[in-house]
Amino acid sequence: MQKKIVVLPGDGIGPEVIAEAIKVLDEVASLYGHQFEYEYDTVGGKALDEFGVPLREETLERCKQADAVLLGAVGGPKWDTLPGHLRPEMALLGLRKGLGLFANLRPVEVFGPVVETSTIKKEVVEGVDLLVVRELTGGLYFGKKERSTSAEGLDQAIDELIYNEHEVERIAKVAFEAARVRRKKVTSIDKANVLESGRLWREVVTKVHQQYQDVELEHMLVDNAAMQLIRNPKQFDVLVTENMFGDILSDEASMLAGSIGLMPSASLSDEAGKGMYEPVHGSAPDIAGQGKANPLATILSAAMLLRYSFGLQEEATLIEDAVKSVLDAGVRTGDLATSGESITGTEQMGEYIVQELRKSKVTQ
Ligand code: IPM
Ligand code: MN
Repeated sequence: MQKKIVVLPGDGIGPEVIAEAIKVLDEVASLYGHQFEYEYDTVGGKALDEFGVPLREETLERCKQADAVLLGAVGGPKWDTLPGHLRPEMALLGLRKGLGLFANLRPVEVFGPVVETSTIKKEVVEGVDLLVVRELTGGLYFGKKERSTSAEGLDQAIDELIYNEHEVERIAKVAFEAARVRRKKVTSIDKANVLESGRLWREVVTKVHQQYQDVELEHMLVDNAAMQLIRNPKQFDVLVTENMFGDILSDEASMLAGSIGLMPSASLSDEAGKGMYEPVHGSAPDIAGQGKANPLATILSAAMLLRYSFGLQEEATLIEDAVKSVLDAGVRTGDLATSGESITGTEQMGEYIVQELRKSKVTQ
């Protein structure tokens, strides 16, 4: 198989974790005889420094032409005081909107051996296997933003929250389809007791459900969902929700797995195979450049890329199994180590995964 991947390392720990994911992809390519061609480009704070904008038109164009996009992270304190449209995060939003990536899949699987890392009781998190399906191109993130002055002369700000039925319908379908090949349950999360957009959300999801009678549908208010995620996360299979709620709940859910450093994501459009893959964590400027970051979320994102964009199921599973084996063997980056455990660096962790891939491919 011959494929072109645009690689956007970005800021902070982005370049470090991306380097390890590329090592892993290269190893998979050589084990299976694929050819992955990488086109590197600059986004986020680095692009602001070099080109004065977080995302260049030509970068977006390059991503549109590619078979898939792999992204590290964007942002950092250096660019935090810039006006909204010039923040590094705008690169992410521009890519999501520009590539039509409305469906964001964020799986949370609690890997047995790191169950001790979670701050939540072992019996609560052990065996958690859920999928957050986050709407990614609508809602507050993309509504009109405005500053004005109130009648009393006070500075005020407006963020507009709009959803239309088509946007809700297509993300609901993604959730039901995903549930069909999992445990057949969808929890749709909204704030229908207060927000009109929440009431539309609930109506449309209920309507789409008529085509998926083999899947159980439950509606849950977002505040309750935040509580249930900690109280009894095993009740969930697929959670589907709007952009902002999905952002917040997926960070919360990541802590079930012990560390956000283990959380991959896929962002998909309705164009078959097109997608962008990135770790859920940010650029972590506090540990950038020190070789401390956990590369597993990015490595697992590369596995999702192989699965969803290239249809390479076996290769994806090989990577996921390698991650489990290495964690089983007790290898820990700083975010995963409990006191007394020795700490492995970013590069070394990547190296362990590569070695594990070689070993397991040979014994297959
Ligand atoms: C995420 C991030 C982004 C978001 C930020 C960096 C814009 O937190 O992917 O979850 O809010 O979507
Ligand atoms: Mn987030």
